[in-house]
Amino acid sequence: MPQLAERFRSFPPYPLADVPEIKRRLRAEGVDVIDLGAGDADLAPPPAALAALRQATADTSLSRYPFNLGLPAFREAVAAWMGTRFGVRLDPYKEILPLIGSKEGIAHLAFAFVGPGDATVVPDPGYQCYLGGTLLAGGEPYIVPLRPENDFLIPLDAIPEEVARRTKILYLNYPNNPTAAIAPRYYLEEAVRWCRERDAVLVSDNAYSELAFDGYRPPSILEIEGAADVAIEFHSFSKTYNMTGWRIGWAAGNAEIVGALARVKTFVDTGAFLAVQAAATAALESYAEWVPGNVQAFRERRDALTAALCSEGFDARAPRATMYLWVPVPAGTTSEAFARRALVEQGVVVMPGSALGAGGEGFMRLALTQPPDRLREAAHRLGRLL
Ligand SMILES: Cc1ncc(COP(=O)(O)O)c(C=O)c1O
Repeated sequence: MPQLAERFRSFPPYPLADVPEIKRRLRAEGVDVIDLGAGDADLAPPPAALAALRQATADTSLSRYPFNLGLPAFREAVAAWMGTRFGVRLDPYKEILPLIGSKEGIAHLAFAFVGPGDATVVPDPGYQCYLGGTLLAGGEPYIVPLRPENDFLIPLDAIPEEVARRTKILYLNYPNNPTAAIAPRYYLEEAVRWCRERDAVLVSDNAYSELAFDGYRPPSILEIEGAADVAIEFHSFSKTYNMTGWRIGWAAGNAEIVGALARVKTFVDTGAFLAVQAAATAALESYAEWVPGNVQAFRERRDALTAALCSEGFDARAPRATMYLWVPVPAGTTSEAFARRALVEQGVVVMPGSALGAGGEGFMRLALTQPPDRLREAAHRLGRLL
């Protein structure tokens, strides 16, 4: 085999890569494993989406290549939903792009804007495709730790001017995975200003915009004045509609930025299955009647897990959005060591903060991917490790 490319070798190792194998072994030994690792909920997609998918797979015209255009009805439905939900008006054919899940779009965008010598601003801990996209494109990720003392926001004024000048993409993700932080409006305004002044693309990864509680309604970056010039926002069906495996999402925003991403995609993929786009259209159309019940289920889980962890002695705070709790691990242990003990000694899978970047050290992420009783049981078992 030839030597691996330099950019490939620059990928960080994947921590706890042996978790699936340990899980399999424990289950084979009869251990009741509770997996709160991945953000992949056990709940069902909307019935309207399931029915539409069944119908769409019977329509053989939808078996053909989707290309970037995809299903016009999907683009129209996304534009209508963005209008109703955020009050932003978008051209369905120039300012919206169907994606094979938002992850591929986020990762591919870097190919359009980033090359050797260019920088991107990457939150740490964070969703790993900001880092991956940048490295694959040959750029230089400037890693910024998200710390509690900054409310887990990227402190933009702490980015050195030398880096800021070379920055092509600022990656923002609020509501945030993994910290569950939310961004106040003034911060989004500041980020738009920062990008405008430096001619950088503002990526808003808004995968958790609809998983919010207690009356909080996360905004779209596209609501912010001036964002239309610099921003592209990524949305997903994975979390809002429990459709992780369907691989469908969209990008929306500045026509030139969306167009650049579309051009990259013409060289690497041929679009999301049209039947899935038809089903996603039905999911969007069922938003008003279906999503509130799903959010309520996550709220019950959030409350159950937060209360149970607190009564075990953890410093758990109820997040206002996302499907995660970001909880400090006990002092004197690393997040990886604690996660390993949680799995091996108690059969509970949690995500060590350090798996999402060095800045996540000291924390673990617990996903609300199980019913309340299972979450209470997981908290109880984790309490035995204290
Ligand atoms: C912050 C964030 N962005 C994007 C995604 C990707 O979602 P999709 O399934 O649409 O690719 C995830 C999935 O976990 C996520 O946590």
